[in-house]
Amino acid sequence: MEQKIALVTGANKGIGYEVAAQLAARNFRVFVGARNEKAGREAAIEIGNDAAFLKIDVADEKGIHAAAAEFAKSVDHLDVLVNNAGILLEDDESALEITPALFETTLRTNTLGPLFVARGFKSLLQKSKAPRIVIVSSGSGQLTDGADGWAPAYSISKTALNGVTVQLAAALPDFAINSVCPGWVRTDMGGSKATRSVEQGAAGIVWLAADAPQNLTGKFLRDRKVIPW
Ligand SMILES: NC(=O)c1ccc[n+]([C@@H]2O[C@H](COP(=O)([O-])OP(=O)(O)OC[C@H]3O[C@@H](n4cnc5c(N)ncnc54)[C@H](OP(=O)(O)O)[C@@H]3O)[C@@H](O)[C@H]2O)c1
Repeated sequence: MEQKIALVTGANKGIGYEVAAQLAARNFRVFVGARNEKAGREAAIEIGNDAAFLKIDVADEKGIHAAAAEFAKSVDHLDVLVNNAGILLEDDESALEITPALFETTLRTNTLGPLFVARGFKSLLQKSKAPRIVIVSSGSGQLTDGADGWAPAYSISKTALNGVTVQLAAALPDFAINSVCPGWVRTDMGGSKATRSVEQGAAGIVWLAADAPQNLTGKFLRDRKVIPW
């Protein structure tokens, strides 16, 4: 069977690292996307199985195009893009008080970042027989039953990110493009009290990247099940 190629953003730690490691263990050729070169290179070495580092800051549109050009020096297509990188900033506490700078930084990274990475790698994905984009969102962005006032800038960025998912799915009907919530996961972002391990958090993402039906697209999922927006 032909080896599939995957790029995971924010793969130097947390859920992204675990997704990259699981895909590499399943014989994907994995590109470990990270903005921090040292951390990204170390993660790629630790993951092994031919995983390679790719420098990519998802908040830097020019840098994304440079990353795609760098990527294309090693391989001629991309099968799976996992848009995982994300931030939750300190002081993201009240919709009445968040600053424009905090809001803009959060939206640039969590919402525009995944859109621009998808656009930057679109022509490489189009060369795949079964292109997939997995967009790591959050239940906190759910309008049905999600938003409760917690981390408003982050939550709004994920609500808008779900909008990015449906727009991309409409624009690229031959792709499988879905949002996924990993649950509350013990990472630097999720904290030590979170209910899920990184393995549990990564499972639904890896399923969408590798096993889900190719005709499942434009949906929001958790634990392999479609959930409301
Ligand atoms: N943990 C949870 O409970 C939870 C729940 C729902 C959704 N999620 C989502 O899951 C994803 C991964 O979160 P996590 O819990 O694994 O968080 P994490 O441990 O804080 O890791 C976040 C990753 O994203 C990277 N990143 C941030 N900004 C970036 C940028 N501009 N360019 C490239 N990489 C960037 C970080 O790189 P640096 O090391 O350089 O900062 C890091 O590798 C995020 O999208 C998050 O919103 C997490």
